[in-house]
Amino acid sequence: MNIPIENIGSAKDNAYSAIHNWYKFTAGFSYKLVDLIIDVLGENPTSIFEPFAGCGTTLVAAQKRGIHSIGNESQQLMCNIINAKLNWDIDYTRCQEYITGIYDYVSERQTSDDVLAESHELLKSLYDKETLKTLYLIRDAIRLIDNQKYELFFNLALSQTLHKSALHPIAVPYIVRSKNIVNSGDAWGKFSSIVNHMLADLESMPHHQRYAKVYKADSRKRNSSIEDDSCDLCITSPPYLNNLDYGEVSKVHTHFFELTKDWHDITEIVRKELVTGATTHYRDCDFDLDEFRKSEFAINNKALMKELEPRYMYLQKYSSERHGKKSFHILMMHYFEDMYHVLKEMRRVLKSGSRAYLILGNSAPYGAYIPTTQYLGEIATSVGFSEYRIDKIRSRGHKWKIKTRHNVELSENILQLS
Ligand SMILES: C[S@@+](CC[C@H](N)C(=O)[O-])C[C@H]1O[C@@H](n2cnc3c(N)ncnc32)[C@H](O)[C@@H]1O
Repeated sequence: MNIPIENIGSAKDNAYSAIHNWYKFTAGFSYKLVDLIIDVLGENPTSIFEPFAGCGTTLVAAQKRGIHSIGNESQQLMCNIINAKLNWDIDYTRCQEYITGIYDYVSERQTSDDVLAESHELLKSLYDKETLKTLYLIRDAIRLIDNQKYELFFNLALSQTLHKSALHPIAVPYIVRSKNIVNSGDAWGKFSSIVNHMLADLESMPHHQRYAKVYKADSRKRNSSIEDDSCDLCITSPPYLNNLDYGEVSKVHTHFFELTKDWHDITEIVRKELVTGATTHYRDCDFDLDEFRKSEFAINNKALMKELEPRYMYLQKYSSERHGKKSFHILMMHYFEDMYHVLKEMRRVLKSGSRAYLILGNSAPYGAYIPTTQYLGEIATSVGFSEYRIDKIRSRGHKWKIKTRHNVELSENILQLS
């Protein structure tokens, strides 16, 4: 069936929808996509699989409709965010009691600078001193709450506060120091108002049940908590080839919540669990093309390897002759191999005959066009999907006005697997 492209929308839609707007995540897709797949394309799932849960768009949209879902997400920070967005049985009165406790904790310590003694350099550069002090004090007060559900709820409110009280935008997707946020600061005012908005959103929900399971899991691997054939639809958007470094994107938050403290932690704790999507994800010295040809992916995708290898050679040559710093040739190989394993896991989790919808972008590192969507369709057939189709949603890559940028027209697509 043809997909009505004009109704798909973008991540910006999420800013106007309750719960979807509890965390600003530019890499997300529009919740309307889930509604469209069910209402217009006629899917009637009992359980949806989302291997790249991100900020939980698919799971929240499914829960609003009373549909079960299962998500994998490899970043702890994102798992905490999703879980907070899915716990709808938050008690209003209990919340107000916790807020009073947090307020008392913060006010009692407001005159002392002790909490700033170990503040992170990155955070010091993004908040004025009083704001940062309040943010840290709120964080420490929340840690004293002995109920994980409420702790997650308040931490999510605090995550939003981090965005709204910063001196510069921190989520677009990287920090933009050339821009200033006009009404930065006032961490407590923003935090308490966000909590009240979140409580009001919960009041407006059609039910307060939880329909989703979220695993902190790497979708390239078999997740033994998810049974074979347990879902009958997949809606997801994998990392794009050569696009975002998710470890970098979330670093203000991971440093603030002490999940990471520096570049080394981001590499070891966050990036290693992610699909290879950026050149910061691997070491060049760990790649050997001859060995790669013997991998399960290469053996099961011989025709595709014939397409990949000339591109690999071109990118390697370009990089060495033009002194390009980036090893896109290696990145490309890792990416498709990683996605092979994800697609294999997706095939295992989905019942026979179920469809998967993936939002994907093509890319052209150093001007070499890589039809990522089509290649992933081919890989999907190597892991047991019968066929694929591609629908273009929009052109992409226009917003970066960089002189050296290639002139290849890139697109964002929906890859449909069945
Ligand atoms: C494009 S975003 C997904 C956005 C999501 N559809 C939404 O609307 O929020 C990709 C997500 O995949 C996660 N991710 C990357 N590699 C992963 C892996 N191997 N296993 C599980 N999650 C992964 C990233 O942390 C990121 O949150």
